[in-house]
Amino acid sequence: MNKTEILCQVRDFVKSHHAHDYSGHDFEHVKRVVHLADKILADEPLADALVVELAAWLHDVDDYKQNNGETNNAERLLIQLNVSDEIVKAVLLAIDSIGFSKTGYNPQLPSLEAKILYDADKLDAIGASGIARTFAYGGNKCRPLFLPEVLPPATLDLEAYRQNALTGTNHSIIHFFEKLLRLAALMQTKTGQQLARERQQLMITFLENFFCEQDLSEWTKLLHENF
Ligand code: ADP
Ligand code: NI
Repeated sequence: MNKTEILCQVRDFVKSHHAHDYSGHDFEHVKRVVHLADKILADEPLADALVVELAAWLHDVDDYKQNNGETNNAERLLIQLNVSDEIVKAVLLAIDSIGFSKTGYNPQLPSLEAKILYDADKLDAIGASGIARTFAYGGNKCRPLFLPEVLPPATLDLEAYRQNALTGTNHSIIHFFEKLLRLAALMQTKTGQQLARERQQLMITFLENFFCEQDLSEWTKLLHENF
């Protein structure tokens, strides 16, 4: 099987895997991540494009939040498609390293391919797509959109973040403060940094308007003090 055929089979698998996702981790999210990864790849000639593209397609098929535990869908599929051991290893290394609950606020990515995948996935978590996905995720988990009396935690705690991702009840605006507004500063590639800048500004403008519409000057103050 050549590269195009492998990518085609992987795409078909991923499409059916994400078919019933309404948490913002649907097939369209994966397509946007692949598209962003391709954009970043254009400026990273040293990266292995096949590893990045396979990892981008497969990056959410074993996600702990969707799967209620560990699975190895990506590995099984790649082996079934006779992808070489070396590429399988590099793809899994990238996928396994990018989850925010692992990398937290100080990402240490193990390869250039992982850095590209990290930026592509995190770019789709911010900006207009990110805003839409955040409220979709909150609704899907039956969480309140916003409770003005519940402020974000004063200190960042990754374990609390991980717990909340699975079973928490935080309102969705908190997610901007604990994660989304912090991602622009964590981008790993030049292209990622450039693309993140505009998306960061858009989220800040959105939140300014959101708080202003409700005359919540204490929330605007909190936003400006931190970002
Ligand atoms: P990552 O891929 O960075 O590990 P997740 O899969 O946890 O991140 O989250 C991806 C996207 O899902 C987030 O950027 C956000 O849009 C949404 N999301 C995840 N957790 C929450 C949350 N607690 N509240 C609202 N949205 C969330
Ligand atoms: Ni993702």
